This record gives sequence, structure tokens and C-alpha cells, in this order.
Amino acid sequence: MKVNTAILSRAAVRAFDPSHAISAEQKRELLELARRAPSAWNIQHWRFVLIENDELRQQMRDAVMGQPQVTDCSMFVAIVVDLEAWNRSPARYFDFLPDDYAQAYAAKIQEFYNGREWLARDDAMRSCGLAAQTLMLATTAAGLASCPMDLFDEERVSQLLRLPAGHVVAMFVAIGKALPGSNAPKASRLPYDEVVLIDRFGASA
Ligand SMILES: Cc1cc2nc3c(=O)[nH]c(=O)nc-3n(C[C@H](O)[C@H](O)[C@H](O)COP(=O)(O)O)c2cc1C
Repeated sequence: MKVNTAILSRAAVRAFDPSHAISAEQKRELLELARRAPSAWNIQHWRFVLIENDELRQQMRDAVMGQPQVTDCSMFVAIVVDLEAWNRSPARYFDFLPDDYAQAYAAKIQEFYNGREWLARDDAMRSCGLAAQTLMLATTAAGLASCPMDLFDEERVSQLLRLPAGHVVAMFVAIGKALPGSNAPKASRLPYDEVVLIDRFGASA
């Protein structure tokens, strides 16, 4: 499938066939593609938690405002952010470079984020959003459907996933087989001219 086709045919699906299963190999293939997404400084802030246990899925459904996608989809992924990822042996994010370059980049990362936790969080969330979209486009190309989700009880979800300190959920992605008619009507988009600007906002002062 062409990328354009995948972009145009993806839709947030809320009704999945609960009897459909995705093999372990295919789950791995989708996550292998998701982890190719770009990330700020190549930090790869994401940790993908594949939620497989039925009882945990039911508990997660309650924590995600009762949304049925959680239990009905074939693959449910929490994209978790490590907010301290920038400070965890950062030279390894540059292990494809000579060691002295990798060390220099690591020092730059630490200088960049140290004392600017808000920026570390923003960059981590931006990067996880790109991972989520990469995962959803790969899913569409595989003939499957997806739903991005971020309505959840943060405290309960943290408990259920036993998140380590400094980790938060960026969002969830539910993946599976769409039930017929489940992605209609297709969501509209604002007019092109409202969302695309040339050079800057507003007339000159
Ligand atoms: C960050 C984010 C969070 C979302 N959370 C939910 C959610 O919790 N439940 C849901 O059904 N859809 C959720 N959506 C899907 C949006 O409602 C959907 O993408 C939007 O209405 C546009 O529709 P489309 O994706 O079908 O084009 C979310 C989307 C994003 C990007």
C-alpha cells in the first residue's frame, strides 16, 4: 500500500471484531515499524506496553472511561514515556557514531534538558505521537484498523501498568479488525486555508 493511501484510509475505529486475533509475529512486525519513528535527539522515549492479559484488559477498560475498544481489539498498546530518558546513558542514542562524537552529543542532550523538565516532557510527547502515527499507518498498510486513545484515569492506569517513577502514559493505540461500517461517517477536516498559512499569522504591524 502506498503511504498516501494509508494516510487517507486510516480512521479512528471504535468497533472491533472481538473474535479476531493477531499473531505474535505480526504484533512484533508492527512494533518493529513503530520503533523506526523519529524522536528528539534519537532518545526513543517510548516504551510500548503490549497489554495481553484479559483481566488486565478489563481493568484497563474501566480506567479508560469504559471504552469498548480496549477489550474488543486484537492488540492493545500503551505508549509509555520515560520522562528521564534524556538522562539515562544518553551516549547510547548515538552508538552509530564514533565514541567521541557520541559522548559530545550526550553532553549536549544533558545541557539541553537539565532544569527544563517541561521541554523534556514536550519532546517526549511529540516523539511518542510520531510513534503512534507510525504504528497506525503500519496497521492500515497491514489491512487492519486502529484507534488512538488518551481519555484515561492517569493514576489508575499508572497503578495497573506498575509504571516506574518518572514514567507516564502518552497514549494508547487499539488495533484490530474493524466491524463493517465502524469507520463511517469519516471525520471531516477544517478547510485547507484555515490550517495552512504562508510565512506568518496576521497582517504586518
Ligand atoms: C491524542 C488523541 C487522543 C484520542 N483519544 C481518543 C479516545 O480516547 N477515544 C476515541 O474513541 N478516539 C480518540 N481519538 C481519536 C479522535 O477522536 C480522531 O482521531 C478524530 O476524531 C479524527 O478522526 P479520524 O482519526 O477518524 O480521522 C484520539 C485521537 C488523538 C490524536
